[in-house]
Amino acid sequence: MIEYSLKSSFGVDMGKKISIKAYAKINLALDVLGKRQDGYHELETVLQGIDLHDVVEMERTPAGISVSCNWRELGSGPENLAYRAAQLVLDSFALDYGVKIHLQKKIPLAAGLAGGSTDAAAVLLGMNELFSMGLSRKELQEMAAVLGSDVPFCLFPLTAYARGRGEIITELPACPRLWLVVVKPPFGISTREVYAHLPNVAIRERPDIKGLVRALENGEKEQLFSGMHNVLEYAAFDLYPVLSEFLCVLREIGGHKVMMSGSGPTLLVFQEDEASARKTASLLENRDCSVYIARTIGPEDLRQR
Ligand code: C5P
Repeated sequence: MIEYSLKSSFGVDMGKKISIKAYAKINLALDVLGKRQDGYHELETVLQGIDLHDVVEMERTPAGISVSCNWRELGSGPENLAYRAAQLVLDSFALDYGVKIHLQKKIPLAAGLAGGSTDAAAVLLGMNELFSMGLSRKELQEMAAVLGSDVPFCLFPLTAYARGRGEIITELPACPRLWLVVVKPPFGISTREVYAHLPNVAIRERPDIKGLVRALENGEKEQLFSGMHNVLEYAAFDLYPVLSEFLCVLREIGGHKVMMSGSGPTLLVFQEDEASARKTASLLENRDCSVYIARTIGPEDLRQR
């Protein structure tokens, strides 16, 4: 939604306001191929946006960057990736303006759902629009990669295969609509900590990414579920054994597939349909975790972003 007003409260002529949905990301599959010279890990992953989202509101101002948020625990300075995204655009193009950003957060923090990355991606898209910069998709993706491994995908969060740190993206055929219950245990996990713990655990099973891509091409849901897996589970479950207890509870409740999202701790329970997702969510009401019902998104969701 883009709103134009003749004068903003800062007295800038033709002040523009913009509001963008910043969608959460899940990994349908995540495999780690090895550690790289730069300290990152080489990944092979299949990424997907879901309709759980933050709303990023932005307004052009005469100078400076201000960030506010409905959650107090999130910083408003350079420690916030949304702030760094705004700074990167203003500095890279020597823009003589500022920007006011308000984050209406819903995506839980440190959850493995790319909440910070997706806000940063929305800021890049918003600044491109607010300042009529005309940046191409490739230019936006290059800036996004500077901010973090998940930020390039979050610009256009449709079904994609990613390599490198997760920033080299190839679009895949759209995932059939899947309903899922997103279960966030009552603690966060540092992505860095999970990757650093990988050498201490055995990887017993790897995702079948080729099979998963074939399933996307054929629209075969069962084959899709059997290809899904996330090897970061071995490290996260070893660091936080309580996650295995959550996993057992969720497996008992049922669903096509239960797996961890990104570096965790969020667990995803894939369901047959919306009604099953609502039923599963209701069974989790008294558990010590946050529960969201979500579905995968498609091109139509990005058109009305
Ligand atoms: O890229 P981003 O800043 O989101 O990554 C956070 C941390 O996760 C990195 O500092 C690194 O420790 C780890 N990471 C990694 N390999 C990746 C992605 C992230 O080791 N492919």
